Amino acid sequence: MRALTICLLLASVCTGAAIVRPAAAGQDKPWLNSALSADERADLLLKDMTPSEKLSLLRGRIGFSLEGTGAPHGAIGSAGFVPGIPRLGIPSLQETDAGLGIANPLGVRPGDVATPLPSGLATAASFDPSVAYDGGAMIGRQAWRKGFNVLLAGGVNLARDPRNGRNFEYFGEDPLLAGTMDGEAIRGIQDQHVISTVKHFVLNDQETGRYYANAVIGEAAMRESDLLAFEIAIERGRPGSVMCSYNLINGSYGCGNAHLLNDVLKGDWHFPGWVMSDWGAVHDVRDAAGGLDQESAGDMRPEAGFFGKRLDAALADGTVPAARLNDMVRRILRSMFAVGLFEHPPVVSPVNYEADSAIAQRAAEEGIVLLKNSNRLLPLTGREKRIAIIGGFAENGVLSGGGSSQVLPAGGPYIANSLGGKGLAAIFRKVIYDPSSPAKAIGDHAPNAELRFADGRYPSEAVKLAAWADVVIVFAEQWMGEGLDAPDLTLPSGQDALIAAVTQGNPKTIVVLETGGPVLMPWLAQAAAVVEAWYPGVKGGEAIANVLFGAVNPSGHLPMTFPADLKQNPRPILPGSDGVFPDLPGGGAVKPFDVVYSEGSDVGYRGIAKRSLVPLFPFGYGLSYTTFGLTNLMVTGGQSLTVDFDVTNTGTVAGKAVPQVYLIAKTGAPVSRLIGFSKVALEAGQTRHVRLTADPRLVADFDAQTKNWRVQDGSYEIMVGYSAGDVALKARTSLTARTLAP
Ligand code: GLC
Repeated sequence: MRALTICLLLASVCTGAAIVRPAAAGQDKPWLNSALSADERADLLLKDMTPSEKLSLLRGRIGFSLEGTGAPHGAIGSAGFVPGIPRLGIPSLQETDAGLGIANPLGVRPGDVATPLPSGLATAASFDPSVAYDGGAMIGRQAWRKGFNVLLAGGVNLARDPRNGRNFEYFGEDPLLAGTMDGEAIRGIQDQHVISTVKHFVLNDQETGRYYANAVIGEAAMRESDLLAFEIAIERGRPGSVMCSYNLINGSYGCGNAHLLNDVLKGDWHFPGWVMSDWGAVHDVRDAAGGLDQESAGDMRPEAGFFGKRLDAALADGTVPAARLNDMVRRILRSMFAVGLFEHPPVVSPVNYEADSAIAQRAAEEGIVLLKNSNRLLPLTGREKRIAIIGGFAENGVLSGGGSSQVLPAGGPYIANSLGGKGLAAIFRKVIYDPSSPAKAIGDHAPNAELRFADGRYPSEAVKLAAWADVVIVFAEQWMGEGLDAPDLTLPSGQDALIAAVTQGNPKTIVVLETGGPVLMPWLAQAAAVVEAWYPGVKGGEAIANVLFGAVNPSGHLPMTFPADLKQNPRPILPGSDGVFPDLPGGGAVKPFDVVYSEGSDVGYRGIAKRSLVPLFPFGYGLSYTTFGLTNLMVTGGQSLTVDFDVTNTGTVAGKAVPQVYLIAKTGAPVSRLIGFSKVALEAGQTRHVRLTADPRLVADFDAQTKNWRVQDGSYEIMVGYSAGDVALKARTSLTARTLAP
């Protein structure tokens, strides 16, 4: 379709003819006139809809046969489906998960594979918004070519707890970094004429008891942290839909929380799209009055289906204001027009998996973080003679995360095994290794080396092999997934002991972590080098090997703090961890439990700074095979805060620096807030100038009384460095007081 448009434009240039637009709609369907705005078109279409047609758009179903319910007619087979209205030319909503690639739940589309991106943490660790955009565009294109027009992506819940089983889907602990990367991913998706969600609104920051967890937090704290991440993502990505969350926030379920949905999202932020529920997350037909616009998976729970006849009745008897009906429908239609679902319906067509896997590989390479490199053991030269490779299924593939975001990977046979569980848990507890062998990729970089592999089950065997080798590469894995949190931050299955033993066997031991987030490293002093590869995606093996051998100079930086121990977390004991919770949402039988976010907006590094703690590795940390220098820092104040500085590659090889700008004191009080970052590619010896202007909300406080952002008059001190724990250059300036709308 786009090619056609380009030809038409060229034709007009060549012939001077007026640009030919796709045929304007006939008088019977004026809403098909793409010259009109999305709002105008939604208003026109709404006028032509019958009440039952309107109602039919407000209840989605699971897009495949659930326990013999039979797949909805017309559904491709995916997480969700909302039937269209052919009479009016309204397409069905074919909704697929998720933010890391196109899922195929339970293999409901036999043989359909897709390209798994590396984890969201890897994309965030790249600190490069173009990596997020390109990844979003790739999965959006694949969704479109597979027939989908809604991608349930855009997860941006902040990493308040390093044990959260879904941290790998999201973008870390900082609202600016997470919101920026999520917004770019959403923009990439929607540029393919596929609606993206942003999710899970809001504070779904742990999986334990997710249907019953009640996030307790002050208004200002919420606005300055989790809500700010959503606000930035929505501003940058303009998602067609917001997916509200299972949990409660200050006593009200996310999908019926009038304050968050009506006052904040639709009121303060003027969000024009629609709010869809998470799957089975509707508790009452009055959620419609609370700001919910569409029930997803209305057939997931026997007592669900609120937005069917019950909504009809509630509208009729005034339980739900009648005016809501048109507003709910209009929001859906408006997003469909705004993202181009009418003009650019998906065309099922071949996917170029090879080209798409290169995009995933780049994201992995940009997001791999070099955490330690003693005596410059890395990069390896390729002339090593004996290389021992231990653990982590490194001969077969690289780890990925579990749950609704899981992708059945293209690129060859992959390993899948189940960790057990029943019902929904069984679906989520599937472990998949993407078909990209680090061992093979390592061998390709060192063609003359003898490679020997031990699977790591027996430390004695691994130690012997380590003693034989010139260099040892141990792969350590931590599987995480939706629906459950890690009980602690140790590497499971005795891997800590394995690594400790191997380092005894050979000091030249490199540890490659394939984890869903931070882990403790009791063996850190003994390991020569440590690389965090996250879940590195469909070409993860190649990406890891390219970094180990220096074909790629690592430039990833931590998007979340690696704590020295769980006592550094505001909640050392995970709330709800002693509870037993049903697999499905349902409220009722189980009482909600509180998760008190006493740290407020001091998430991660902000709290670490406030409590003067020393983490294992700070937010923003990451080494390179070269070195960088920062000079000429200048800060300009007044109405806004602008920072200028130079960054130089002071080493001998090209590399990418990620200078970060933190506010470290505000009118005399210490704070720690990331207010800007940049990824700068530099040849050896090259210098580049960087200028960043802080989003005023990051230097402001949110005033819950007046519901405004307030920048106080006074002195502000900033630091430029390479992590939240680093202090390279400092400077002060003054800002004048100002108030900003929420
Ligand atoms: C899940 C997840 C959500 C996903 C949806 C559809 O429970 O919370 O992220 O998009 O259901 O699979």
